[in-house]
This record gives sequence, structure tokens and C-alpha cells, in this order.
Amino acid sequence: MRRESFLSDDCPPMGIYETLYAFRDRFGEFMGSEGTHPWSQGFPLTTQLEGGPPLPSRVEVTWTDRFYPKAWGLPELREAIAGHYNSFYGSRIAPENVMVFAGGRPGIYTVLAFLKKHVEVRIGNAEWPAYLDILTQTDTSWRVVPFTEENGFHPPNSAYFDRAGLNHKTHLFPVLSNPGNPTGHTRHGAELEELVAMAERPGNGILLDEAYEMYHHSKGVSGIRYVKDLDDSNVFLAGACTKGLQSPGIRIGWIVASRKNVETLSNYSSFGMGGVSHPSQRYAVELLEPERVARARDAVDRHYGRQRARYGEAFERMGLEVFTGDGGFYHWMKLPDGLNAGELNRRLFAHGAAILEGKDCDMARPHDKDPAYVSPYANWFRFSFGPLLPETFESDVALLGRVLDEYRADVAAGRSA
Ligand SMILES: Cc1ncc(COP(=O)(O)O)c(C=O)c1O
Repeated sequence: MRRESFLSDDCPPMGIYETLYAFRDRFGEFMGSEGTHPWSQGFPLTTQLEGGPPLPSRVEVTWTDRFYPKAWGLPELREAIAGHYNSFYGSRIAPENVMVFAGGRPGIYTVLAFLKKHVEVRIGNAEWPAYLDILTQTDTSWRVVPFTEENGFHPPNSAYFDRAGLNHKTHLFPVLSNPGNPTGHTRHGAELEELVAMAERPGNGILLDEAYEMYHHSKGVSGIRYVKDLDDSNVFLAGACTKGLQSPGIRIGWIVASRKNVETLSNYSSFGMGGVSHPSQRYAVELLEPERVARARDAVDRHYGRQRARYGEAFERMGLEVFTGDGGFYHWMKLPDGLNAGELNRRLFAHGAAILEGKDCDMARPHDKDPAYVSPYANWFRFSFGPLLPETFESDVALLGRVLDEYRADVAAGRSA
């Protein structure tokens, strides 16, 4: 008998990683390595996009970069991030409204870890798998907002602030990815303005996760455009260099919030994080150079807009029901004839491909696996075109179509569940 571990027994990897491990066990290679089709993966192309700016290939590191970083981030980077929002969205945030983290996830995790107990999260039923792990591990209370075919995976803003059955002590804190992962649904313009206005009302707040800010035909969606008084709010915006700036590996993300809330986050950094790597922060400053970002906005919209449209059309021709919104780099789809996304995945693994099963995005599922639980998204899945080059379009579509046809034929002939 081995002795009991002192660490939690309830800390499985997030759903996406489970797919990765299952894939590796079946295919013998890691997803993403040569010859695989990374349709389950949430990373963007990390090479120069057609018409886009080159990606910096080096950063200078001087003796001052070997100092401990400042808890809240490199002053030049906080300045660059504030400028990034102010120039494109007409906001007037200060560097003191910016807290730098080692990627998007640590920022989101930290905000939720420090929420007061009377603050309740509202989250869409189909959201990014990591949220379920973060909400669970931070012991946050949350309720799910219905995401269904009937509401088109795009419930009204008011659904996030529904106070039915609550007493006055409970404050509401929606957590939304916008553009959404996995659905691609995006709140922008008047709808986003209304959402932010609701979030600024007394007793409300919001965590708007804008990791896919640039993946939209408007070339940029951010709630910051509509925030009236950030310093007197509980509005939190999460951003990162991960997607639009094509650099998941440098691990730079940030939270924009009131000065008071940023101070709390930086106090946490002083004892729990120790700041973020200087070389990475310097690289992020290069990435955020305004002319570069302007070119990147165009190129991201052009490349990913085209990919979204042509993959969507091809999937519909295959008989898949496509429910994707107009942002992000995923398609959110329903399999025909009650086919199951888990079975589809097992069949794809044999060909070096994988999708993300809809059930992994289900924010109402139990965190520890309960075999009796049936997710409403058992026959749904997310297809990522984030890492795909334009050249693989035909072969990707052909492969998915072939595996789907075989699965359908097997079911029709009674050879498969
Ligand atoms: C909705 C969402 N938020 C944030 C992130 C950023 O994560 P990170 O920068 O930690 O890789 C991702 C990446 O997959 C995401 O999909």
C-alpha cells in the first residue's frame, strides 16, 4: 500500500488534455507532431500570416532583466497594453489598470480565486473546458446559463443577470469568453454595450475573457469600448498574446480592471507568483508595437474569416449542423442521426486526428467523472481551424468526411452504437 498523497485527489487535467492523452495512447504520437491533424487544439498559427507582420525572432536581455520583475508587470508592457486598448477602442485606461500574468489562464484563475463568497458566477452551459476546472478548484459558486439549439447558443445578456430566487446579498459575476470558445458566438456593438452597462450596475460585475479579441470581422471586440467607469466597477477583461498575437509559448496574458482590483491581484503576485519573466514581457512589448498590431488585425481577420467560411460550408455539405457564431477559430457542430462525438473521436484517432467533444465544454457536468451523467452535448463537437494552414483544407475536409461516412454506414448496418 502506498501512502496517501497530501495533494488533492480531485485534480484531473482539463478535458482538452484528456483528449490529448487518449490520442497519444491510441496513435503513439503527440497531437501536433508531424502527420497529425490538430483539430482539437486551441492554438493559432505561430508563423507569419499572409499579409501579416513578421513575428519578432529575438529580444534583448540586459542586466536589469535579471532583476526580480515588478509584481504587476514591466512598466513598458503595462503602458503598451493600456495603449493597445486606448488607441483601438477609444478607452482611457492607465497602466495602473493592467496586471500582467504568465498567460490568460493564470489571470482568470487568480480573479476567481479571490472572489468574495457572496459573489456568484454565471456561465454559459457550453464554454471553454478550463473554466470548469478553475471554478471547481477555486471553490467558486456558479450557475449555468442555458446554451441550446433553441437560443442558438446565444442567450440574451439579461440571462446572465437573472436574479430569480436570489436574495439581495448575492452579487452576480458572469464569466464569458467573447468571442466564445467553443461556439464562436460574439457580442459586439450595441449588444456588448448593453452587457457592459448591466455589468456596471451596483451588485454586478463581469469577467469578459477576450482571448479571441482579434478573431472577428470588426478586427477587434472588447468591452472596454463601453466601460463608463472602470475604477468604480467590478469589470475584469482578460487578454493575452496567445491567440491574435500568435504567441502562446511566450506565456503573457493580462487582466484589465479597476486600480483597486489590480492592486489586490498584484499583492497576490508579491507572495504567490513573483511576477512574470522579463524576456517574455519584452517580447510582448515588441508584439504590441502599434503598427504591427494594425497589420496583425487585418491579417487575422482575413485568414481566419476565410477559413471559418469555407470550413463551415464544407461541414454543412457533409450533413453536419453548424451552429457557429461569427468569431473565434472554432466550429461548433452537431452530428447527424444521433451519432456520438466520443465514438467519432475514437475513429479519428486511428487517422491521427481528433476533435474536442462537446461534453468537455459542458459547464454543468460533474467535475469528477460520473458515468451516469449524460451531457446535453454528447453528439456535439468543436472543430478547431486555429492551427491549420490554408493548404490542408481539402485533405482535412476529405478526412473528416470519410470517417463520418464510415461511422454513418456502420450505424446504418447495425455494426456500431
Ligand atoms: C477562452 C480562452 N481564454 C483564454 C485562453 C488563453 O489561455 P492561455 O493564454 O493561458 O494559453 C484560451 C486559450 O485556449 C481560451 O480558449
